[in-house]
Amino acid sequence: MNKKNLIKKIKQKKATVGVVGLGYVGLPLALEFCKKGFKTIGLDIDKKKIEKINLGISYIKQIKSINVIKKKLHATDDFSTVKSCDVIVLCVPTPLSKNLKPDLSYMQKTIKSITPFVSSNQLISLESTSYPGTTIDEVVNKFKLKFNIGRNLFICYSPEREDPGNKKYKTIDVPKIISGHTKNCLEVGKIFYAAVFKKLEPVSSTSAAEFTKLLENIYRSVNIGLINEMKIIADLMKLDIYEIIKAASTKPFGFKAFYPGPGTGGHCIPIDPFYMSWKAKKLGYDSRFIKNSGIINTKMSTWIVNKIVKVFKIKKINLAQSEFLIIGVAYKKNVDDTRESPAFTIMKKLQAKKIKISYHDPYVPQLYKTRNYDFKLKSIELTEKNLKKYSAVIIVTDHDNIKYSLIEKNSKIIFDCRGKLSAKNKYLSSKIYSV
Ligand SMILES: NC(=O)c1ccc[n+]([C@@H]2O[C@H](COP(=O)([O-])OP(=O)(O)OC[C@H]3O[C@@H](n4cnc5c(N)ncnc54)[C@H](O)[C@@H]3O)[C@@H](O)[C@H]2O)c1
Repeated sequence: MNKKNLIKKIKQKKATVGVVGLGYVGLPLALEFCKKGFKTIGLDIDKKKIEKINLGISYIKQIKSINVIKKKLHATDDFSTVKSCDVIVLCVPTPLSKNLKPDLSYMQKTIKSITPFVSSNQLISLESTSYPGTTIDEVVNKFKLKFNIGRNLFICYSPEREDPGNKKYKTIDVPKIISGHTKNCLEVGKIFYAAVFKKLEPVSSTSAAEFTKLLENIYRSVNIGLINEMKIIADLMKLDIYEIIKAASTKPFGFKAFYPGPGTGGHCIPIDPFYMSWKAKKLGYDSRFIKNSGIINTKMSTWIVNKIVKVFKIKKINLAQSEFLIIGVAYKKNVDDTRESPAFTIMKKLQAKKIKISYHDPYVPQLYKTRNYDFKLKSIELTEKNLKKYSAVIIVTDHDNIKYSLIEKNSKIIFDCRGKLSAKNKYLSSKIYSV
């Protein structure tokens, strides 16, 4: 009876949707449900975000403010509003602790905040990335004493597959993996997500869905780690890795191109390998291959800085008196997200060598203090005069809207981490170095 009522409400778009955690995942998702006519409440602990949303202002570059205004999303930090929700979607952070272990404290705090207001006939869907078993450990086990899961409370896991900045695949275009703790949970979950997503991919258990999400991201981490290692070896042989990737890519089967870079960033790729290897270790297996990809990607910044030091030594330029310009501090191109950005690791390592640092990023006007960094810098304008001031320029993130020809023409030395300029020059000039 409960299930039927909830399904009916969802199908008639009379269900109220609560999205907890209005970040890169939660905000676009909440806006999609608003767009389909659902009354949607956004819950967050960040008062600044709440204030902005209620004024119709977007704090994520790829989401236009006009869409926030039109879609009338109501944001609040009052968790008692969970009482009025039929569906509660959890999109809170799942970072790593300092010793590279899963940090589920945000998720646990969220569950604690919503628990007093969860009532029968609701669906709770977890979207945060985590190790297989998390939905059972952190959600099912917390509610099973008070509720009969699958009868009067429905619990799903549906991993977010958002790719911020991707113009081809928007949130709703990516097939939605969906799983439920019981058959009934899955049935309700499928109806809920079908209201917004074009295609669903149901799997048999919440742990299988959690595993699927980690597999997707670890697949990227491992392949990026592989190509980064290949870059280091090609460099030792004085070969151009980009020429090699281009040639290998002509094989019509069995090869997918991945590109080297300064290391990985964002909320997924640098983190997820460690979630899986942590869980595997708990089960008695040391997943060396997965862990190594994470380590290789993390160490790319050290390799890049060492290479820069070597070039300066050969050129007999005093590093300690030089000033570098970093191009792109977002963790990937065409987005404003700087979380876990390898640019910051490179900047910190250069500063430790007494090198002065400036940056240019059209998506990131200013750097604010974070847990690990406090650069106190603002993005400088990219002009001929400014470029000529610097001892060297490092292309860390290759946003499309940067004038690379201006950089190429006016910089003294260019270290290119993305193959943006070096890939074009088969034989590198003495001014452009592929790092
Ligand atoms: N960003 C991506 O591209 C992406 C893609 C796929 C999956 N994910 C996963 O989705 C989850 C969310 O990631 P994100 O990138 O949206 O994170 P985010 O940091 O952008 O947003 C998280 C939001 O949760 C809020 N929050 C933190 N603790 C809270 C609490 N106790 N109660 C309510 N709100 C709280 C924060 O204030 C923030 O607004 C993570 O598990 C991440 O791994 C992210």
